[in-house]
Amino acid sequence: MDNEYLSINGGNELRGTVEMHGAKNAVLPLLAAAAMTKEESVIEDCPFISDVENMLGLLSALGVSVKRKGRNIELSGGVSGVGDIAGFCKTMRSSMFMLGVLLSETGEAYLPLPGGCDIGARPLDIHIDGLKKMGAEAYIENGAVVCKAKKLRGAEIPLRYPSVGATENLLMCAARADGRTTLLGCAREPEIVSLADGLNKMGANIRGAGSSKIEIEGVKTLKGARLIPGGDRIVAGTVLAATALCGGSVKIDGVNRSELAAVINAFKSEHCKIDGTNTGICVSSDGRISAGSVFTAPYPLFPTDMQAQYLACQCFSDGVGVVRETVFENRFAHAYELQKMGADVIVDKNAAFVRGNPRGMKAAELCAHDLRGGAGLMIAALKVRGESKVFGTRYIDRGYESMETLFRELGADVSRVRV
Ligand code: EPZ
Repeated sequence: MDNEYLSINGGNELRGTVEMHGAKNAVLPLLAAAAMTKEESVIEDCPFISDVENMLGLLSALGVSVKRKGRNIELSGGVSGVGDIAGFCKTMRSSMFMLGVLLSETGEAYLPLPGGCDIGARPLDIHIDGLKKMGAEAYIENGAVVCKAKKLRGAEIPLRYPSVGATENLLMCAARADGRTTLLGCAREPEIVSLADGLNKMGANIRGAGSSKIEIEGVKTLKGARLIPGGDRIVAGTVLAATALCGGSVKIDGVNRSELAAVINAFKSEHCKIDGTNTGICVSSDGRISAGSVFTAPYPLFPTDMQAQYLACQCFSDGVGVVRETVFENRFAHAYELQKMGADVIVDKNAAFVRGNPRGMKAAELCAHDLRGGAGLMIAALKVRGESKVFGTRYIDRGYESMETLFRELGADVSRVRV
C-alpha cells in the first residue's frame, strides 16, 4: 500500500512560465556514455528524478566516481568491475545501457534483466542480435543478459524495429569497436542525437544520428567532455496537454519546438493555440477539447510517452476519438483508472475508443501503474472539481521532478500527502 498520494483539487486554469530541464531519456544514456572513459565528464542540467538517482547508484556500484553538484553530475574513473547491481537493474530499463559500456570496457557483461514500467514484454532481442553481429557472445540465462567479447568489431546491423534503447546501446558499443558500424532502420528520437553529439564530443566518430542510418567509425579511446542534454520534450508535452485541458496560458521554456511537432499537431485546435517562441512554446486554451484520434509510433510521429496524456484529455472532448498504441502492447492501464472518474472509454487490444463526457467526469481515487499513465491521471484530476487522489507516486517520480510543484507554480491546487 502506498504511504503517500498526490491530492488534487481540480478546476483551476493554468497560468505562468515553466522551464524544462534535461530530458530523462537523454540524461540516462549520457550517464552511461560518460562511464566509457576514465577522464572526468560533466553532464549538465540533470533532473532530480528517481531514474537518474538509480542510474547514479548503478554506476557507483560499477566503480564509477559520481558527484552530483546541483543539476550538474560529474563522473570519472570509468567502470572498474561488476558490483552488486541486481537491485538497480530491477528498478529501471536503463540498466541495459551498461551492456555496451561493460562490453567495451571489460570485455564482458552480466546484467539482470531490467525492470521499469510494466507496459509490455520489452524483450532485448534487437540489442542481442546487434551485439552478436559485432562479434559478441550474447544470450539470456537465469534472468540475466550475459555478453562476452574480447573486442567488438564493426558490422552492418539492420534493426528489425527502430528500438530507442537498442540504437543507443549499439551506438555506444560501436563507438569503441574495431572498424565501421552501420545501423540501418535505427531510432531517430532527439535523445539519439543528444547521445551521438555527446559521444562525438568525447572523441567518437558518428554520422547520421537523427536519420534511420547511422555510421560509426570506431576509435581507440574516448575522453572526458561537458555533455548537455536537450530539454525534456515529454514533460513539456505533459504541461501542454494539462493547459489544453484546464484552460489558461502557459509559456514552456527550454524545449525545442520541432521535437514536439506531432504533439502540437495533435493538441492544437479552435480551442487551443500553440505558438513557438525563441525559447520554447506558448500554449493558450479555453479549456475545451476537440474530439480527435492519434496512433503512437516511433519519432517523428506521435510519441507513445504522450499517449496517456492525450487519452486523458479526450475523455473531456466534444465527440468520439480513437487512440491506437502501436509501440507497446500493454500501455492502457490508465484507461481503467479514468473509468473511475466517469470516462466513457473502452480498450480493445491496442486501441482505446473514447466518447468525451466532460460533464460526467468526477474526482476519484486513482492509482498510477506506470510513469506516463500517472501523468495522464494527474491531468484529468487537474480538470475536475473536488479532490482527486493519485496514488503510485513512485512511478510519477521516476520521470517528473515534484509533479505537485510543477503544477502548483501554474496555479493548480496540488499537494503531496503522507498517509
Ligand atoms: C525508450 O524505451 C524510452 N525509455 C521509453 O520511455 C519510450 O517509451 C520508448 O523508448 C519508445 O520511445 C528510455 O529512453 C529510458 P524501445 P525503450 O526499445 O528503449 C520493442 C518513459 O516513459 N523491443 O524503443 O525500452 C519493445 O518491446 C519511457 O520515459 C523489442 O521487441 O523502448 C517495444 O514494444 C517508457 N526488442 C518497442 O520495441 C528489443 O530488443 C519500443 O521499445 C527492444 C525493443
